[in-house]
Amino acid sequence: MRPPVGSLLVRDIGLLVTNCPELGSGSLGVMRDVDLVVENGTVAWIGGARTSPAADEVLDAAGRCVVPGFVDSHTHLVFAGDRVEEFTARMAGKRYDAGGISATVAATRSAPSSVLMEMAARLKREAEAQGTTTLETKSGYGLTVSDESRCLEVAGTIAEEVTYLGAHVVAPEFRGREQEYVALVTGPMLEACAPKAQWCDVFCENGAFGPDAAREILQAGRAHGLGLRVHANQLSHGPGVQLAVEMGAASADHCSHLDGADVDALAGSDTVATLLPGAEFSTRSPYPDARRLLDSGAAVALATDCNPGTSYTTSMPFVIALSVREMHMTPDEALFAATAGGARALRRDDLGALAPGFRGDLVVLDAPSAAHLAYRPGVDLVAAVVRAGRLLGRGVTR
Ligand code: NIG
Ligand code: FE
Repeated sequence: MRPPVGSLLVRDIGLLVTNCPELGSGSLGVMRDVDLVVENGTVAWIGGARTSPAADEVLDAAGRCVVPGFVDSHTHLVFAGDRVEEFTARMAGKRYDAGGISATVAATRSAPSSVLMEMAARLKREAEAQGTTTLETKSGYGLTVSDESRCLEVAGTIAEEVTYLGAHVVAPEFRGREQEYVALVTGPMLEACAPKAQWCDVFCENGAFGPDAAREILQAGRAHGLGLRVHANQLSHGPGVQLAVEMGAASADHCSHLDGADVDALAGSDTVATLLPGAEFSTRSPYPDARRLLDSGAAVALATDCNPGTSYTTSMPFVIALSVREMHMTPDEALFAATAGGARALRRDDLGALAPGFRGDLVVLDAPSAAHLAYRPGVDLVAAVVRAGRLLGRGVTR
């Protein structure tokens, strides 16, 4: 851990999105012409421009827009190889199924940890350069006790939220012996992995795990002190969302095939619907019905799902643009879901907003408003990224 930075003044913010309606106008609590001070990693003061207390360091936003750092609450960054041929075949008309996961499992098992570490660190740097200040990442391409365990070790070096996904698919050598694999995942593999993770996830889907096996895995994870998340209703309508709600999971992820009962269950629960439209983009599949979820009152998060099979992007700005264009979210809803929504999906009340007491995680946008993230897709609008009051990478002078 690096020592705290002392204090950072972000000066001359033209438009600040706080995500706290009580601090400013509209649902995002927008303030104009303010300065913001982060002290020892935490937002300590927000007030009129040029009236701030002195600080050790100064970042001049020069009238730009500042938003909370993106919280990417669902990624799979620990793997080796890529699946570009599978993507290319898909773009030529082949359908996605979960079968490609085994190609990444084989590559990951045969890669030294140093290679996994290098690849994961590169993806983390990529994400940070695009404004991500909090990452969740998972195992799930090892599927043996030792490979899942070393993947989680790698995950812990790049992400602050780490998820055990031994139940991604049944390991190839256990095909036809699913119950034996579930016993491994809930037994020795969990014993080895639980100390290295905060969360337990399961892919509940045809071709992966059915509801009974998924429930057993989640119960075992919970008994080992892990919070719960579920890959739910991604490729077809199934029991994943209802199971996530029943188990009190923090998040049901994908939610691409929902019926009215699923939407009602999410709306009446603390389980966040985490939408991953990069996966629909890259598998050329129908997008989740974000409008129905939002209009029902369900909590919605957006994340990249970065993985070599269905969504090989680390870009939260891209996900925001997709959500607005393809899922009919307003730019404000998409920004909120990519920041406060992600924080809620990780049950983190210190992230996702810019108000005194929250971690000093922010992005200076080279744009007058956050709507430009969707309005100018594919354009790098990230001028500076600050995590816990510390400037990451480049500054605003470009
Ligand atoms: O979230 N749904 C399962 N897991 C990944 C895809 C994994 C892969 O194809 O490698 C997902 O989309
Ligand atoms: Fe995923």
